[in-house]
Amino acid sequence: MTGVNQTSVTRIDTVRLGGQDGPEIGVQGFGAMGISEFYGETDEAAARDTLDAALEAGVTLIDTADIYGSGANEEFLAPFLAAHRDEVTLATKFAIERRADDPAHRAVRNDPAYIRKAAEDSLRRLGVETIDLYYMHRRDPEIPFAESVGAMAELVEEGKVRYLGLSEVTGPELREAHAVHPIAALQSEWSLFSRDVERSAVAAVAELGVTFVPYSPLGRGFLTGAFADAAKDLSGGDFRQYQPRFTGENAERNAALLEPVRRIAAAHGATPAQIALAWVQQRATVHGLTVVPIPGTRKRSRLTENAAATRITLTGAELAELEPIAGLVAGDRYPDMRFTSVTREV
Ligand SMILES: NC(=O)c1ccc[n+]([C@@H]2O[C@H](COP(=O)([O-])OP(=O)(O)OC[C@H]3O[C@@H](n4cnc5c(N)ncnc54)[C@H](OP(=O)(O)O)[C@@H]3O)[C@@H](O)[C@H]2O)c1
Repeated sequence: MTGVNQTSVTRIDTVRLGGQDGPEIGVQGFGAMGISEFYGETDEAAARDTLDAALEAGVTLIDTADIYGSGANEEFLAPFLAAHRDEVTLATKFAIERRADDPAHRAVRNDPAYIRKAAEDSLRRLGVETIDLYYMHRRDPEIPFAESVGAMAELVEEGKVRYLGLSEVTGPELREAHAVHPIAALQSEWSLFSRDVERSAVAAVAELGVTFVPYSPLGRGFLTGAFADAAKDLSGGDFRQYQPRFTGENAERNAALLEPVRRIAAAHGATPAQIALAWVQQRATVHGLTVVPIPGTRKRSRLTENAAATRITLTGAELAELEPIAGLVAGDRYPDMRFTSVTREV
């Protein structure tokens, strides 16, 4: 038994963002996305309390993006940032364009004029003078990194941004961008269910000393076991009703894959969510990387539970048992995979 206590607050360990010179951040961060969009209704008071719980646990990397709630997520964070600016390492993102006059419209924009305007809009909504970590949310391969990362580097020179990050890029793309300006973090999906990044990205991350920020480390909630009942209602504003892994036969097949996760959780006196988080943290050490996963939750109890996962060590036998899962997952990560890095892997 690892003896994980889920009720008391675990003060988590720290690492330096992007290697030696970056700010000290907790080894687990916080994904704020679900507060404003994608996972159904939110109790805002509970979400605010969850942010307080994050700081109490030492979860200091707070992750948002301009697209989450079309700016609403950044605005939601503003009062919290006003009260705690020095305790937080604030990350936001640009690149996915939405239009008020056409809700279905989505375009990936990496052109310098768009980047500058997006950064200024994010600064205003967040109510801060500087974004600590500014990510390119998606890559437009038509725009060379010299132009896009070049524009991001100008924001650093002007003091509007401290560190640069990328999301959903391949290993070769990360190396190319890093040659234009140092990249502190790569944020891509990495979990027991999603291991595309092990094709090329993790090797580049390890080589360059970049921090890897795994997003959706709980498989958007699937790995917690909450969707084992495929009949679970995902209507309303929950975008998982359109996700290939959450629907129909795929959901049933994927739920069956959680059996070893549950068994290992029981052996540690832990939850499946904690085992999923411990796995990504430990898998990273195999590749010689620093990871800061950013699970998203709107509940204090789950924040505390997730932070406590940083204390769990899985045995070699347990890691071996979990190894085949990703290869057996039914369904893609997104209904439309065009904007992910996988399509550009050679
Ligand atoms: N760069 C990108 O393209 C990208 C894409 C997706 C996400 N992200 C970032 O990554 C963050 C995390 O990803 P995510 O929110 O998609 O997925 P996730 O962290 O894998 O899962 C979040 C879901 O799990 C639930 N949950 C969290 N902890 C739990 C626990 N201990 N027990 C049971 N359920 C639990 C949450 O529900 P409750 O909220 O109800 O607790 C929510 O439904 C986002 O917030 C966002 O900042 C980035």
